[in-house]
Amino acid sequence: MAPPTFDFESPPDRSASDSIKWRRFAGRDVVPMWVADMDFMAPPPVLEALRRRIDHGVFGYAEPWPSLVEAVVEGVARDHGWRIDPDWLVWLPGVVSGFNIACRAVGRPGEAVLTATPVYPPFLCAPGNSDRVLRSVALVCRDDRWQWDWEALEAAAAPGAGPPQGGGDPLGGQRSVGAHTPEAGAPPRLLMLCHPHNPGGRVYSADELHHLADFARRHDLVVCSDEIHCGLVLEPGLAHIPFASLDDDAARRSITLMAPSKTWNIPALYCAFAVIPDPGLRGAFYHAMRGIVPHVNVLGLVATEAAYRDGGPWRDALLDVLRAHRDRVQEVVAASPGLSMAPVEATYLAWIDCRELMRERAIATPTAFFEAAGVGLSDGADFGLAGFVRLNFGCPRATLEKGLHRLRAAAAGEAAP
Ligand SMILES: Cc1ncc(COP(=O)(O)O)c(C=O)c1O
Repeated sequence: MAPPTFDFESPPDRSASDSIKWRRFAGRDVVPMWVADMDFMAPPPVLEALRRRIDHGVFGYAEPWPSLVEAVVEGVARDHGWRIDPDWLVWLPGVVSGFNIACRAVGRPGEAVLTATPVYPPFLCAPGNSDRVLRSVALVCRDDRWQWDWEALEAAAAPGAGPPQGGGDPLGGQRSVGAHTPEAGAPPRLLMLCHPHNPGGRVYSADELHHLADFARRHDLVVCSDEIHCGLVLEPGLAHIPFASLDDDAARRSITLMAPSKTWNIPALYCAFAVIPDPGLRGAFYHAMRGIVPHVNVLGLVATEAAYRDGGPWRDALLDVLRAHRDRVQEVVAASPGLSMAPVEATYLAWIDCRELMRERAIATPTAFFEAAGVGLSDGADFGLAGFVRLNFGCPRATLEKGLHRLRAAAAGEAAP
């Protein structure tokens, strides 16, 4: 039987919609390729499940139900070889909420939270939101792959390691919020991992994850692993390995955050979950949520069940589209003077190094430069690494070509189209 076909070429016009991505450039000829949602409609089974639920017509308080839990447990086992006990699940209205709760649940005010830059910007604010101190190490791009600098990580975990490392304060002082004065040098209790990595596009290998697990064990760290992009591995032969699935010790010290939102393109339905095998850690997490974190929207729960149970064929077709887009982005960037990028193993996000272009053309802010040429990108400075831009290629091919044409022309110093 022929595989089902899905339309990734003619999605609805979002330009006059509620879309954050499109509204930023309303009325201007700028192709929006920044915030991480895709321009595609949600998978048909998700839309059908939502329609059925809306037709039911009653929207009283809801809680997760057995077939939903089963769809998630089976989906994670099927896709990532990790069998979750349903008791480990904590439902959340978003992954960002999840890692902010983790910062509150682990350690005490003034203690350090470790992460590595560049990284998804809310990672950099989360410790300060909870009166913790961000301590970041810089990932290094070696052999065309964003990798951990193990020595720098080790140094950052040492007692008295002091103020943050890894290239100054990317947030201009936003990190310390609240009444507590952080004790410079207090040891970290929490490591925040972004896996697969946004914006570097890496799928961490078993070796790298074992190294991180060993590091966490030696320093007795809780690891909060944001695995929101785990369904979007593009590179054939690579597989996402949940950090918590490595061994019992990794599981015991882990808070894994997952969601259907990136893979099935339903982020504004706000449904995510934490998986926390250790009952004590789970209790602390629930405690930190109390009175603040609302129940998950019932439509998000409905969509999640449909996505995990019936969203496989759509996702397979999506990955083919994204793989082709990724290859095209790589090709155009390689042909653009002063731009370069490492291969994207996962996500629909390309992390483009503009430093050579900036030097040669005396460009202060690459996003402003490309925006003037009609392409809206995310600024690397927000991720803790200025001189880079992030490009979202989760869009129809025609949109991609238009954006890439403008990107290359701008880099080549050609007249705007
Ligand atoms: C690594 C990562 N975590 C979390 C999020 C957002 O999660 P949520 O919308 O569920 O809060 C994003 C969105 O781009 C992301 O890339």
